[in-house]
Amino acid sequence: MSIRPLPGEAEGVEASAIPEKNRIGALVVAARNQIPTAPASPGFWVGERLYSSRNRLEIGSVAGVGSEIVIDIYVWTLDVDAHERERIRGHLSQDERGRAARFVTQRDRERFVAARGRLREILAKYAACDPAAVAFNYNPHGKPRLRGGGPNFNLSHSENLAILAIADSAEIGVDLEAIRPLREDIAERFFSPTEVLELRGLPDDDQVKGFYRCWTLKEAFVKAVGMGLTLPLDGFDVSIAGPPRLNRLASEFGAKEDWSLVQLEPSPGFVGAICCRSGGLSLHLRRPPT
Ligand SMILES: CC(C)(COP(=O)(O)OP(=O)(O)OC[C@H]1O[C@@H](n2cnc3c(N)ncnc32)[C@H](O)[C@@H]1OP(=O)(O)O)[C@@H](O)C(=O)NCCC(=O)NCCS
Repeated sequence: MSIRPLPGEAEGVEASAIPEKNRIGALVVAARNQIPTAPASPGFWVGERLYSSRNRLEIGSVAGVGSEIVIDIYVWTLDVDAHERERIRGHLSQDERGRAARFVTQRDRERFVAARGRLREILAKYAACDPAAVAFNYNPHGKPRLRGGGPNFNLSHSENLAILAIADSAEIGVDLEAIRPLREDIAERFFSPTEVLELRGLPDDDQVKGFYRCWTLKEAFVKAVGMGLTLPLDGFDVSIAGPPRLNRLASEFGAKEDWSLVQLEPSPGFVGAICCRSGGLSLHLRRPPT
């Protein structure tokens, strides 16, 4: 899940190699009754809103130069009925079933099954095989790839919602966060001084959403790179207000202009971001039927 609980908390899973500095779970004020719930039907896209380097736009194209990179975006609810969950569970490998079993709460077990099973169903269409036959390789930081080749993909889930971005020919990362109340000093703990300055310049009412915009853009980048939160979040800058872009980047990751960022609101109460190593090419964003 995107907001990662710390050891000893009731939810979540698996020990991680994420530096303490990059964990925000304990800093999020738990206020379950304030968590927005996503619509119940699968395959929805509420609002059809995206923020890109051209500000708000419908699903379509993000300008670049020359030919384009096609990105397919899928959004689905993780709260499915027992019958559907059992059907989806049938796709999971032994490893995945074992992983599901290690979640502390039943709700997290069920949501993991709904995320992983649906991921397999979607990827199976691209790999032209059965969902159960989809096989993954993982990089040293856990980023999955399709074994045997195929498009790049990345998954994110938060609360009861999942988002999957599939790019035909580029490294991709995606992040999704449910907007929840935050402790006031959280930006100072994770963001660069430049980002904190930009965030604090926003009106009071935009502070929480601004935080999540910044967080999701940064996490989408570290997921596109494949290092996840082992990469220090204050080691690069993204823009917070206005068109999303990388403002500062270490040379080992290439030129800032090689990376495209898209901000989106896949459902009320959620903020998401996609990062793609586009090499300056245009992005063609699609929402295929589920
Ligand atoms: C990747 C990471 C940022 C995801 O954080 P999160 O906010 O909890 O989770 P999200 O919902 O956004 O994304 C989870 C999905 O990202 C993908 N993912 C996992 N590791 C990834 C990585 N290094 N880069 C990109 N994507 C990754 C998986 O599909 C995962 O789905 P799953 O949990 O169902 O397997 C975080 O787990 C991390 O930093 N991991 C690296 C830790 C590490 O190096 N571990 C080494 C041992 S594997």
